[in-house]
Amino acid sequence: MRAILEQLDARRAQARAGGGERRVAAQHAKGKLTARERLEILLDENSFEEFDMYVTHRATDFGMAAQKVPGDGVVTGWGTINGRLTYVFAQDFTVLGGSLSETHAQKICKIMDMAMRNGAPVIGLNDSGGARIQEGVASLAGYAEVFRRNAEASGVVPQLSLVMGPCAGGAVYSPAMTDFIFMVRDSSYMFVTGPDVVKTVTNETVTAEELGGASTHTRKSSVADAAFENDVEALEATRRFFDFLPLNNRQAPPERPSNDDPARLEMRLDTLVPDNAAKPYDMRELVLALADEGDFFELQAEFARNILIGFIRLEGQSVGVVANQPMVLAGCLDIDASRKAARFVRFCDAFSIPILTLVDVPGFLPGTAQEHGGVIKHGAKLLFAYAEATVPMVTLITRKAYGGAYDVMASKHIGADINYAWPTAEIAVMGAKGAAEILYRSELKDPEAIARHTQEYEERFANPFVAAERGFVDEVIMPHSSRRRVARAFAMLRTKKQEQPWRKHDNIPL
Ligand code: HXC
Repeated sequence: MRAILEQLDARRAQARAGGGERRVAAQHAKGKLTARERLEILLDENSFEEFDMYVTHRATDFGMAAQKVPGDGVVTGWGTINGRLTYVFAQDFTVLGGSLSETHAQKICKIMDMAMRNGAPVIGLNDSGGARIQEGVASLAGYAEVFRRNAEASGVVPQLSLVMGPCAGGAVYSPAMTDFIFMVRDSSYMFVTGPDVVKTVTNETVTAEELGGASTHTRKSSVADAAFENDVEALEATRRFFDFLPLNNRQAPPERPSNDDPARLEMRLDTLVPDNAAKPYDMRELVLALADEGDFFELQAEFARNILIGFIRLEGQSVGVVANQPMVLAGCLDIDASRKAARFVRFCDAFSIPILTLVDVPGFLPGTAQEHGGVIKHGAKLLFAYAEATVPMVTLITRKAYGGAYDVMASKHIGADINYAWPTAEIAVMGAKGAAEILYRSELKDPEAIARHTQEYEERFANPFVAAERGFVDEVIMPHSSRRRVARAFAMLRTKKQEQPWRKHDNIPL
């Protein structure tokens, strides 16, 4: 018996050694942790249960028969994060560069299938040279099996990707189909074709970092939702992030008891909006003032900064926040902001996370770049996403809610449950001066007349009461009591049930 147990120990030790000391040292020298070290940080202590540790590939071409490492370049299984179940896979770059073989893919598919059946998220730690070159089409087939499951699991269980090393070629499309992508600065990159191919085809010279590093994907392409300094930071942030999410689409989001009084008054909010309507202020301050313990997990913070998205808790319950940011482009909606917020609204709706919308929007950004870029189609994404959402939605208008953007930003007309406004709100077709210049075009040369008409328009429309008189705004509230009002509204909406008519699926403008 002892010999048998020792044999098991030896086999386990061999699998845990991955690609061997030299390659582990090389991984560490790049500032990266190994697959197993990463899982240790991500999951609760001693909670990881590994599957398929002894699986090896079956390839024989190109000398592969002699290159079998148990586990085949990916560590898979399940564990818990703060006591809640999650399935995980972590590609092991020390084994054949973490490249994806047929069996490597089967291991990932196995935990994805279990996650779907048992209703728990999948977290993938990607660190791979891509398709296992020695296996050819068998590897491509493996990728496609993973892709299909990514699509099937979308909206059923949350899927998170941490890109912690190379992720190139078609391999990028698995993370791209998951709900959120986190990257690590200076050690991870994602691109469909690498710098060498780019040079050959387009004659552009570009480094891997510039082409597909964390800064590129968090600032320019919006492929990634957040970037972190190193593996440890990324994994710890993922644990914090996980706590905002439900395990699946049939469960309510987790509640985390908090000592933060939901009726807490915030007197500083009474002076948040400046006297001068043209002056910006930081909407993030309002988000932080509303959130339990000021805890805001912001996503895509460096992309389309004219809109904020992320999670907070109110009375311990997760709430998705979408907020115009007057500090950037005066908080206008544009192509990027619409795309960013639309996908977030759809995530929240798919996973029953209530949505709080904070509005200060002067309209859609004008210009040929926007029109030619398809702002009509992209703006429609946000409108569509809000209009089809059935989760509890509370909207608070702090200042401007002009034109079509008023409708889009979770107005009652498109389905928000409660719409509050501060007394500083201005709900109108456009700003007063612009309106006066159009209505009184013939008097354009007379600045005094225009100023008078501007003032008339302001007095009539630059307030929340015209909308409140029609019931489009449920109540005009004191800024300092916003947290209490919003928290109470969400508490009232907890039992909300709303169904959409049957259909195969909708046809959101893409
Ligand atoms: C098999 C691979 C591999 C791969 C790396 N290795 N990529 N083995 N298939 N795709 C092996 C190396 O041979 C090496 O083995 C070890 O992993 C580490 O690789 P290095 O090159 O030494 O590491 P590094 O210098 O850090 O470079 C990493 C890299 C480079 C940039 C990822 O390895 C690379 O360019 N690999 C090929 C990438 C690629 O073209 N993949 C196919 C993309 S197409 P030893 O034994 O020396 O340790 C694709 C299509 C997917 O993925 C399609 C889905 C639809």
